Amino acid sequence: MLKSIKLKNLEIKNPVILAPQAGITDLPFRNLVSSFGGEEFSTSLTVSEMVPSASQVYLLNKKKSNSKIKRLYERYSSNTLTSVQIFGNDPDIMAESAKINEELGADIIDINMGCPVNKIVKNGCGSDLLRNPELASKIIKKVVSAVNVPVTVKIRTGWNAENINAPEFAQMIEDSGASMLAIHGRTRSQLYSGTVDLDTIKKVKSSVSIPVIGNGDIFTIDDAKRMLEYTGVDGVMVGRGIYGTPWFLYHIIYFLKTGERLPEVPISERKEILLKHISAMIDYYGEKTGMLNARKHIAWYSKGLRNSAEFRNFVNNSENISEVYEFIEKLFK
Ligand SMILES: Cc1cc2nc3c(=O)[nH]c(=O)nc-3n(C[C@H](O)[C@H](O)[C@H](O)COP(=O)(O)O)c2cc1C
Repeated sequence: MLKSIKLKNLEIKNPVILAPQAGITDLPFRNLVSSFGGEEFSTSLTVSEMVPSASQVYLLNKKKSNSKIKRLYERYSSNTLTSVQIFGNDPDIMAESAKINEELGADIIDINMGCPVNKIVKNGCGSDLLRNPELASKIIKKVVSAVNVPVTVKIRTGWNAENINAPEFAQMIEDSGASMLAIHGRTRSQLYSGTVDLDTIKKVKSSVSIPVIGNGDIFTIDDAKRMLEYTGVDGVMVGRGIYGTPWFLYHIIYFLKTGERLPEVPISERKEILLKHISAMIDYYGEKTGMLNARKHIAWYSKGLRNSAEFRNFVNNSENISEVYEFIEKLFK
Protein backbone atom coordinates (compact mmCIF):
# COMPACT_ATOMS: atom_id res chain seq x y z
CA MET A 1 0.00 0.00 0.00
CA LEU A 2 2.98 2.27 0.61
CA LYS A 3 5.11 3.12 -2.40
CA SER A 4 8.23 5.20 -2.41
CA ILE A 5 8.09 8.67 -4.01
CA LYS A 6 10.78 10.06 -6.31
CA LEU A 7 11.38 13.81 -6.21
CA LYS A 8 14.14 14.88 -8.59
CA ASN A 9 17.20 13.05 -7.26
CA LEU A 10 15.61 12.20 -3.89
CA GLU A 11 13.67 9.16 -2.82
CA ILE A 12 11.09 9.32 -0.05
CA LYS A 13 11.04 5.62 0.76
CA ASN A 14 8.33 5.65 3.40
CA PRO A 15 6.04 8.62 2.72
CA VAL A 16 4.40 8.76 6.13
CA ILE A 17 5.51 12.26 6.96
CA LEU A 18 5.76 14.39 10.08
CA ALA A 19 3.67 17.55 9.48
CA PRO A 20 5.28 20.93 10.06
CA GLN A 21 4.09 22.34 13.37
CA ALA A 22 5.28 25.61 14.90
CA GLY A 23 6.29 25.06 18.51
CA ILE A 24 6.40 21.26 18.04
CA THR A 25 8.53 20.01 15.15
CA ASP A 26 11.78 21.44 16.41
CA LEU A 27 15.08 19.62 15.94
CA PRO A 28 14.80 17.43 19.07
CA PHE A 29 11.31 16.26 18.13
CA ARG A 30 12.13 15.60 14.46
CA ASN A 31 15.18 13.60 15.44
CA LEU A 32 13.24 11.62 18.02
CA VAL A 33 10.45 10.80 15.56
CA SER A 34 12.93 9.66 12.92
CA SER A 35 14.81 7.45 15.40
CA PHE A 36 12.06 4.79 15.38
CA GLY A 37 11.79 1.95 12.89
CA GLY A 38 15.33 1.57 11.55
CA GLU A 39 16.18 1.62 7.88
CA GLU A 40 13.14 -0.32 6.77
CA PHE A 41 10.33 1.22 8.77
CA SER A 42 11.32 4.73 9.84
CA THR A 43 9.70 7.83 8.38
CA SER A 44 11.59 9.21 5.40
CA LEU A 45 10.63 12.85 5.78
CA THR A 46 10.04 15.34 8.56
CA VAL A 47 9.18 19.00 8.05
CA SER A 48 10.54 21.82 10.20
CA GLU A 49 8.52 24.47 11.98
CA MET A 50 7.71 27.27 9.55
CA VAL A 51 10.57 29.73 9.11
CA PRO A 52 9.77 33.41 8.39
CA SER A 53 11.57 34.11 5.10
CA ALA A 54 11.88 37.86 5.60
CA SER A 55 13.45 37.81 9.05
CA GLN A 56 15.74 34.94 8.09
CA VAL A 57 17.05 36.89 5.11
CA TYR A 58 17.33 40.07 7.22
CA LEU A 59 19.26 38.30 9.97
CA LEU A 60 21.72 36.67 7.64
CA ASN A 61 22.24 39.84 5.61
CA LYS A 62 23.09 41.60 8.84
CA LYS A 63 25.63 38.83 9.38
CA LYS A 64 23.93 38.00 12.64
CA SER A 65 24.72 34.35 12.25
CA ASN A 66 21.78 32.67 13.89
CA SER A 67 22.88 29.45 15.51
CA LYS A 68 19.25 28.36 15.87
CA ILE A 69 18.83 28.55 12.09
CA LYS A 70 21.97 26.50 11.54
CA ARG A 71 20.95 23.89 14.09
CA LEU A 72 17.73 23.30 12.16
CA TYR A 73 19.71 20.93 10.00
CA GLU A 74 21.52 18.76 12.48
CA ARG A 75 20.23 15.25 12.47
CA TYR A 76 20.85 11.86 13.93
CA SER A 77 19.15 9.64 11.39
CA SER A 78 20.45 9.29 7.88
CA ASN A 79 17.22 7.53 6.86
CA THR A 80 15.17 10.67 7.15
CA LEU A 81 15.17 13.71 4.89
CA THR A 82 14.65 17.20 6.28
CA SER A 83 12.28 19.60 4.61
CA VAL A 84 12.44 23.20 5.73
CA GLN A 85 9.21 25.12 5.44
CA ILE A 86 9.33 28.82 4.65
CA PHE A 87 6.55 31.38 4.61
CA GLY A 88 6.23 34.85 3.18
CA ASN A 89 4.59 36.85 0.41
CA ASP A 90 7.52 38.31 -1.53
CA PRO A 91 8.78 36.09 -4.36
CA ASP A 92 12.35 37.48 -4.25
CA ILE A 93 12.71 37.19 -0.49
CA MET A 94 11.18 33.70 -0.53
CA ALA A 95 13.71 32.71 -3.22
CA GLU A 96 16.58 34.12 -1.16
CA SER A 97 15.39 32.36 1.96
CA ALA A 98 15.06 29.10 0.02
CA LYS A 99 18.65 29.44 -1.17
CA ILE A 100 19.90 30.09 2.37
CA ASN A 101 18.12 26.98 3.62
CA GLU A 102 19.43 24.88 0.76
CA GLU A 103 22.98 26.02 1.51
CA LEU A 104 22.51 25.19 5.17
CA GLY A 105 21.46 21.65 4.30
CA ALA A 106 17.72 21.41 3.66
CA ASP A 107 16.90 18.41 1.46
CA ILE A 108 13.60 19.94 0.37
CA ILE A 109 12.09 23.43 0.53
CA ASP A 110 8.41 23.50 1.45
CA ILE A 111 6.30 26.62 0.94
CA ASN A 112 3.54 27.34 3.44
CA MET A 113 0.26 28.20 1.72
CA GLY A 114 -1.99 26.77 4.40
CA CYS A 115 -1.39 28.51 7.72
CA PRO A 116 -4.74 29.97 8.86
CA VAL A 117 -3.47 32.09 11.76
CA ASN A 118 -4.61 35.75 11.61
CA LYS A 119 -1.23 37.37 12.05
CA ILE A 120 0.14 35.36 9.10
CA VAL A 121 -2.90 35.71 6.83
CA LYS A 122 -3.27 39.45 7.35
CA ASN A 123 0.18 39.93 5.82
CA GLY A 124 -0.82 38.01 2.70
CA CYS A 125 1.09 34.87 3.74
CA GLY A 126 0.03 31.28 4.51
CA SER A 127 -3.49 30.39 3.44
CA ASP A 128 -4.18 33.92 2.21
CA LEU A 129 -2.23 32.87 -0.88
CA LEU A 130 -5.09 30.48 -1.71
CA ARG A 131 -7.00 33.66 -2.63
CA ASN A 132 -4.12 34.97 -4.71
CA PRO A 133 -3.05 32.22 -7.13
CA GLU A 134 -1.13 34.64 -9.34
CA LEU A 135 1.18 35.72 -6.54
CA ALA A 136 1.37 32.12 -5.29
CA SER A 137 2.53 31.02 -8.74
CA LYS A 138 5.18 33.76 -8.87
CA ILE A 139 6.50 32.67 -5.47
CA ILE A 140 6.70 29.00 -6.50
CA LYS A 141 8.41 29.80 -9.82
CA LYS A 142 11.01 32.06 -8.16
CA VAL A 143 11.76 29.55 -5.43
CA VAL A 144 12.00 26.65 -7.90
CA SER A 145 14.45 28.53 -10.07
CA ALA A 146 16.55 29.62 -7.06
CA VAL A 147 17.37 26.14 -5.72
CA ASN A 148 18.37 22.70 -6.95
CA VAL A 149 16.53 20.76 -4.26
CA PRO A 150 12.88 19.81 -4.82
CA VAL A 151 10.28 22.42 -3.87
CA THR A 152 6.97 21.35 -2.36
CA VAL A 153 3.86 23.29 -1.30
CA LYS A 154 1.43 22.78 1.58
CA ILE A 155 -2.15 23.99 1.20
CA ARG A 156 -5.68 23.71 2.60
CA THR A 157 -8.81 22.94 0.55
CA GLY A 158 -9.63 26.62 0.04
CA TRP A 159 -10.37 29.85 1.86
CA ASN A 160 -13.88 28.91 3.01
CA ALA A 161 -16.75 26.58 2.11
CA GLU A 162 -17.84 28.88 -0.74
CA ASN A 163 -14.34 28.99 -2.22
CA ILE A 164 -12.95 25.48 -2.34
CA ASN A 165 -10.34 25.84 -5.06
CA ALA A 166 -7.70 23.25 -4.12
CA PRO A 167 -8.02 21.18 -7.35
CA GLU A 168 -7.35 24.22 -9.62
CA PHE A 169 -4.79 25.60 -7.18
CA ALA A 170 -2.99 22.24 -7.25
CA GLN A 171 -2.78 22.40 -11.05
CA MET A 172 -1.25 25.86 -10.74
CA ILE A 173 1.27 24.42 -8.23
CA GLU A 174 2.24 21.71 -10.69
CA ASP A 175 2.43 24.12 -13.65
CA SER A 176 4.65 26.46 -11.60
CA GLY A 177 7.25 23.72 -11.17
CA ALA A 178 6.74 22.30 -7.66
CA SER A 179 7.62 18.62 -7.21
CA MET A 180 4.95 17.59 -4.67
CA LEU A 181 2.11 19.04 -2.61
CA ALA A 182 0.52 18.28 0.72
CA ILE A 183 -3.09 19.13 1.44
CA HIS A 184 -4.81 19.49 4.81
CA GLY A 185 -8.46 18.66 4.16
CA ARG A 186 -9.97 21.76 5.75
CA THR A 187 -10.66 25.31 4.59
CA ARG A 188 -8.94 28.28 6.16
CA SER A 189 -12.18 29.33 7.86
CA GLN A 190 -12.56 25.98 9.53
CA LEU A 191 -9.24 26.27 11.33
CA TYR A 192 -9.37 22.88 13.07
CA SER A 193 -13.16 22.46 13.37
CA GLY A 194 -15.33 19.99 11.51
CA THR A 195 -13.92 16.89 9.89
CA VAL A 196 -11.36 16.41 7.20
CA ASP A 197 -12.71 16.67 3.63
CA LEU A 198 -11.45 13.50 1.95
CA ASP A 199 -13.46 14.15 -1.23
CA THR A 200 -11.57 17.33 -2.05
CA ILE A 201 -8.26 15.60 -1.32
CA LYS A 202 -9.34 12.87 -3.75
CA LYS A 203 -10.16 15.49 -6.41
CA VAL A 204 -6.77 17.13 -5.92
CA LYS A 205 -5.05 13.79 -6.35
CA SER A 206 -6.81 13.16 -9.63
CA SER A 207 -6.21 16.65 -11.00
CA VAL A 208 -2.39 16.60 -10.94
CA SER A 209 0.42 14.23 -11.83
CA ILE A 210 2.90 15.30 -9.12
CA PRO A 211 2.71 13.27 -5.88
CA VAL A 212 0.03 14.37 -3.40
CA ILE A 213 0.24 13.90 0.36
CA GLY A 214 -3.01 13.71 2.36
CA ASN A 215 -3.21 15.39 5.74
CA GLY A 216 -5.76 15.87 8.49
CA ASP A 217 -7.17 13.92 11.44
CA ILE A 218 -4.87 10.91 11.24
CA PHE A 219 -5.01 9.75 14.84
CA THR A 220 -4.96 5.97 14.29
CA ILE A 221 -3.45 3.49 11.88
CA ASP A 222 -6.93 3.02 10.40
CA ASP A 223 -7.23 6.76 9.74
CA ALA A 224 -4.00 6.56 7.71
CA LYS A 225 -5.27 3.54 5.82
CA ARG A 226 -8.57 5.29 5.04
CA MET A 227 -6.80 8.43 3.80
CA LEU A 228 -4.68 6.34 1.41
CA GLU A 229 -7.46 4.04 0.22
CA TYR A 230 -10.25 6.58 -0.13
CA THR A 231 -8.33 9.40 -1.77
CA GLY A 232 -5.58 7.51 -3.60
CA VAL A 233 -2.90 9.91 -2.31
CA ASP A 234 0.76 8.93 -2.52
CA GLY A 235 1.50 9.41 1.15
CA VAL A 236 0.14 10.75 4.41
CA MET A 237 1.22 13.49 6.78
CA VAL A 238 0.54 13.40 10.52
CA GLY A 239 0.38 16.37 12.88
CA ARG A 240 -1.48 16.19 16.18
CA GLY A 241 -1.84 12.40 16.11
CA ILE A 242 1.79 11.99 17.13
CA TYR A 243 1.62 13.97 20.38
CA GLY A 244 2.97 11.85 23.21
CA THR A 245 3.57 8.92 20.86
CA PRO A 246 6.62 9.79 18.73
CA TRP A 247 6.77 6.20 17.46
CA PHE A 248 3.39 6.61 15.71
CA LEU A 249 4.77 7.09 12.17
CA TYR A 250 6.87 3.93 12.59
CA HIS A 251 3.78 1.98 13.67
CA ILE A 252 1.78 3.25 10.67
CA ILE A 253 4.61 2.37 8.26
CA TYR A 254 5.04 -1.06 9.83
CA PHE A 255 1.35 -1.79 9.32
CA LEU A 256 1.25 -0.48 5.76
CA LYS A 257 4.28 -2.57 4.80
CA THR A 258 3.53 -5.80 6.66
CA GLY A 259 -0.21 -5.79 7.38
CA GLU A 260 0.61 -6.34 11.06
CA ARG A 261 0.04 -4.05 14.02
CA LEU A 262 2.85 -3.57 16.51
CA PRO A 263 1.90 -3.97 20.18
CA GLU A 264 1.40 -0.92 22.41
CA VAL A 265 4.64 0.53 23.70
CA PRO A 266 5.03 -0.59 27.34
CA ILE A 267 4.94 2.05 30.02
CA SER A 268 8.58 1.52 31.04
CA GLU A 269 9.68 2.18 27.46
CA ARG A 270 7.44 5.25 27.22
CA LYS A 271 9.19 6.62 30.28
CA GLU A 272 12.63 6.08 28.73
CA ILE A 273 11.53 7.81 25.51
CA LEU A 274 10.14 10.76 27.47
CA LEU A 275 13.37 11.11 29.47
CA LYS A 276 15.41 11.01 26.26
CA HIS A 277 13.10 13.64 24.75
CA ILE A 278 13.41 16.00 27.74
CA SER A 279 17.17 15.60 27.76
CA ALA A 280 17.40 16.42 24.02
CA MET A 281 15.27 19.52 24.57
CA ILE A 282 17.44 20.72 27.43
CA ASP A 283 20.51 20.11 25.30
CA TYR A 284 19.02 22.13 22.44
CA TYR A 285 17.38 25.03 24.30
CA GLY A 286 19.25 25.13 27.61
CA GLU A 287 17.79 24.05 30.93
CA LYS A 288 15.17 26.73 31.57
CA THR A 289 13.68 27.11 28.09
CA GLY A 290 14.08 23.39 27.41
CA MET A 291 12.03 22.50 30.45
CA LEU A 292 9.39 25.12 29.62
CA ASN A 293 9.07 23.88 26.04
CA ALA A 294 8.99 20.27 27.24
CA ARG A 295 5.90 20.84 29.43
CA LYS A 296 3.36 20.21 26.68
CA HIS A 297 5.15 17.05 25.58
CA ILE A 298 5.36 15.76 29.15
CA ALA A 299 1.60 16.29 29.49
CA TRP A 300 0.93 14.38 26.25
CA TYR A 301 3.09 11.41 27.26
CA SER A 302 1.31 11.13 30.58
CA LYS A 303 -2.22 11.23 29.13
CA GLY A 304 -4.30 8.31 30.37
CA LEU A 305 -2.00 7.40 33.26
CA ARG A 306 -3.29 7.31 36.81
CA ASN A 307 -2.77 10.69 38.56
CA SER A 308 -1.78 12.31 35.27
CA ALA A 309 -3.90 15.43 35.89
CA GLU A 310 -2.14 16.03 39.20
CA PHE A 311 1.18 15.39 37.45
CA ARG A 312 0.46 17.90 34.67
CA ASN A 313 -0.48 20.52 37.20
CA PHE A 314 2.74 19.85 39.07
CA VAL A 315 4.94 20.00 35.96
CA ASN A 316 3.34 23.23 34.80
CA ASN A 317 4.17 24.89 38.08
CA SER A 318 7.56 23.43 38.84
CA GLU A 319 10.87 24.86 37.78
CA ASN A 320 12.83 22.20 39.54
CA ILE A 321 14.01 19.55 37.10
CA SER A 322 14.90 16.93 39.67
CA GLU A 323 11.41 17.17 41.19
CA VAL A 324 9.91 16.63 37.74
CA TYR A 325 12.15 13.59 37.17
CA GLU A 326 11.14 12.15 40.56
CA PHE A 327 7.48 12.56 39.70
CA ILE A 328 8.01 10.90 36.30
CA GLU A 329 9.58 7.88 38.05
CA LYS A 330 6.51 7.56 40.27
CA LEU A 331 3.93 8.09 37.53
CA PHE A 332 5.37 5.76 34.89
CA LYS A 333 5.40 2.67 37.12
C1 LIG B 1 0.40 23.57 16.95
C2 LIG B 1 0.34 23.50 15.45
C3 LIG B 1 1.29 24.16 14.70
C4 LIG B 1 1.25 24.10 13.30
N1 LIG B 1 2.21 24.74 12.57
C5 LIG B 1 2.22 24.62 11.21
C6 LIG B 1 3.29 25.18 10.44
O1 LIG B 1 4.24 25.77 10.96
N2 LIG B 1 3.22 25.02 9.09
C7 LIG B 1 2.20 24.34 8.47
O2 LIG B 1 2.18 24.23 7.24
N3 LIG B 1 1.20 23.79 9.19
C8 LIG B 1 1.21 23.90 10.54
N4 LIG B 1 0.23 23.28 11.26
C9 LIG B 1 -0.77 22.44 10.56
C10 LIG B 1 -0.31 20.98 10.52
O3 LIG B 1 0.85 20.81 9.73
C11 LIG B 1 -1.43 20.08 9.95
O4 LIG B 1 -1.72 20.50 8.64
C12 LIG B 1 -2.71 20.14 10.76
O5 LIG B 1 -2.44 20.03 12.14
C13 LIG B 1 -3.68 19.01 10.34
O6 LIG B 1 -3.09 17.76 10.53
P1 LIG B 1 -3.43 16.83 11.81
O7 LIG B 1 -4.93 16.67 11.84
O8 LIG B 1 -2.70 15.56 11.56
O9 LIG B 1 -2.95 17.56 13.03
C14 LIG B 1 0.24 23.35 12.66
C15 LIG B 1 -0.70 22.68 13.42
C16 LIG B 1 -0.67 22.73 14.81
C17 LIG B 1 -1.70 21.97 15.60
